Amino acid sequence: MQNKLYISRLLTFLNTSPTPFHAVANMAIILREAGYKALDERDHWQLQTRGHYYVIRNDSSIIAFIHPDGQVESGLRLLGTHTDSPCLRLKPQAIRQTESCILAAVEVYGGALLNPWFDRDLSIAGRVSWSTSGKIHSQLVDFKKPVACVPSLAIHLNRKANQEHRIDTENDLRLLLQLQPDAANTMDPVRLALQDLLTELPDATACDYELSCYDCQPAAITGLQEEFIASARLDNLLSCYAATTAMAETRSTFPALMVCTDHEEVGSVSAVGAAGSFLSDILQRLLPEPGKRQRCLRRSLLISADNAHAVHPNFAKRHDGLHLPRLNGGPVLKTNANQRYASTSRGIALFRELCRQQHVPVQDFVSRSDLACGSTIGPISAAETGIDTVDVGIAQLAMHSIRELCGAMDPLRLHRVCKAFLATELVN
Ligand code: CO
Repeated sequence: MQNKLYISRLLTFLNTSPTPFHAVANMAIILREAGYKALDERDHWQLQTRGHYYVIRNDSSIIAFIHPDGQVESGLRLLGTHTDSPCLRLKPQAIRQTESCILAAVEVYGGALLNPWFDRDLSIAGRVSWSTSGKIHSQLVDFKKPVACVPSLAIHLNRKANQEHRIDTENDLRLLLQLQPDAANTMDPVRLALQDLLTELPDATACDYELSCYDCQPAAITGLQEEFIASARLDNLLSCYAATTAMAETRSTFPALMVCTDHEEVGSVSAVGAAGSFLSDILQRLLPEPGKRQRCLRRSLLISADNAHAVHPNFAKRHDGLHLPRLNGGPVLKTNANQRYASTSRGIALFRELCRQQHVPVQDFVSRSDLACGSTIGPISAAETGIDTVDVGIAQLAMHSIRELCGAMDPLRLHRVCKAFLATELVN
């Protein structure tokens, strides 16, 4: 596929996926259009050999697979990513009314870089749930327009703003929503506004929500030579999109599985995170006989894709001088002696060969020995399942900012390598 077409579809995916819930819904659409059938964990499954299926848990994590029945000898080709990104999340009783205006209180989700959240046109999106006679209903919502902002304090009122700007996360990040309360309606203004978005619920006072803020500025191709993509949530929707489109386009019938989980940015320990039971539960259902399952998993390989730190031109010293991933330099292989990344030389060797076959450049990353290293779902999934794993990712700048930057050549390259992986015979 041409890079231009791939990028324009990727930008649409980024713009319509403001939360993990929306990202998973969009990934399900791509898979359905490619012939994957939806499964529900509450049902009995009757799977066809080499059939294509997907399962969603909590609306925010998704597993898609090509059924491995009878093909244990060839192992599973696994692709892993995470669906969540750092952000500001509304508190359950968010509204704070002062003499002059109405604010909403937020919690910081994950390791967000907070300064870039000021002075943005923020919208709100997420999931709303309610219960009737024991049945729980949910609906995804998205205001799709700027409804809030966090104004900076003027430099005249804080002369040291450029030298030492500390952010008090309880008080400084409250969202400015409106000036005066609505005289005709004393209802919480967020719930009042939700009322217009909820198609089935007549009374929004009776709902609960998981709502977060996002920047309304759409993803863009930038740079004098149109070399960059600037967007929110590049970490890790880039990898979600590369993996999903690889699963959708593959013509291979080798057993394969893609797992994209929520809650990576907060440690992955949850019912739907990589440290939860989702992957192992699905593997047990696909391969219920323990001996068969173990034989299959020992022949399997997981490519765990999560963005990597490109070398920042203004801060090159933060990198090891011989491991300097560049934007548009190709996918990055990530290693860490202390297992913050799960890559082994075995997995790296295979990934490098795939890149060579696809004429895709590849780069190495290891952090400076005197700097702490980030982590990802790779080591967690490897520990849970014992599967050989390689941690890779697209190089980016401004990780965990509200607007991140990557090269415009790299997303399609990662997609092509993932797709080649799905068609590769694993001879282990
Ligand atoms: Co990430």
